[in-house]
Amino acid sequence: MTQILNGKRGIIFGALDEQSIAWKVAERAAEEGAQFVLTNAPIAMRMGEINKLAAKCNAQIVPADATSDEDLNKLFTESMQILGGKIDFVLHSIGMSPNVRKARPYTDLNYDFFHKTLDVSAMSLHRVLQTAFKLDAISEWGSVVALSYIAAQRTFPDYSDMAEAKAMLESVARSFGYHYGKAKKVRVNTISQSPTWTTAGSGVPGFKEFFNYADSMSPLGNAKAEDCANYCISLFSDYTRMVTMQNLFHDGGFSNMGINAAMVAPQGE
Ligand SMILES: NC(=O)c1ccc[n+]([C@@H]2O[C@H](COP(=O)([O-])OP(=O)(O)OC[C@H]3O[C@@H](n4cnc5c(N)ncnc54)[C@H](O)[C@@H]3O)[C@@H](O)[C@H]2O)c1
Repeated sequence: MTQILNGKRGIIFGALDEQSIAWKVAERAAEEGAQFVLTNAPIAMRMGEINKLAAKCNAQIVPADATSDEDLNKLFTESMQILGGKIDFVLHSIGMSPNVRKARPYTDLNYDFFHKTLDVSAMSLHRVLQTAFKLDAISEWGSVVALSYIAAQRTFPDYSDMAEAKAMLESVARSFGYHYGKAKKVRVNTISQSPTWTTAGSGVPGFKEFFNYADSMSPLGNAKAEDCANYCISLFSDYTRMVTMQNLFHDGGFSNMGINAAMVAPQGE
């Protein structure tokens, strides 16, 4: 291993189970020499899976609901104590829509649910950044990465109000990226990831169809969670110091495709 994160301290949000993208990021970050705190919503801790990851990565767990300023304050303060200094990287790997969960059609959304979708999936990034900013908890040249999806730019009807959440998430990365970059040289980016088999991903209706569609359309096929983890590691590292305020497509080329013969020719032709 190259150990490109040697000496770096991080906070990783969103490892629910072995399928989670955040789980793979934690495994890779540990291999690359980082020390970090794992966090998730208190309710997600009940599954207990995260304890296995913590043991494997020699990491401590600090529960935090990403919609609670109080929890986030405690998370950053305790993480700096546990890790012995300011934080160098943060992974925001959080998404949830009650409208999707309860299969509400886009033309009949429940607005309390919609608020919740935006709060959990997008405003939480602002909360994380604002908490860190006020506590001056992130080192100069630190890197914050959040995970997004191409439904922020293009219409994927079954993605429902998560599309609005991702558009907002990417906007927060640009806006806060400006302020944090100016003030402390902290970088903020989003990675727009291929459809990936995880709890959040497979909860979207028709997931199998758009997973297969994207896989056939992309010249490289869909990027896996492990590939996404590698990309996150590169963005946490010092090799990408001048990258900020970007939405970076990590999708095997899907986002720049127009047509692919494999999609129009019947099988076998
Ligand atoms: N799976 C995909 O197809 C795909 C594609 C592109 C982007 N993404 C994004 O990747 C990120 C990670 O999702 P995943 O696919 O690994 O699924 P996942 O279900 O494993 O992860 C989602 C995480 O969000 C956490 N979470 C929900 N509410 C929270 C709250 N209030 N506070 C703190 N954490 C909370 C969950 O506990 C869970 O760990 C999400 O932002 C998702 O939208 C996923």
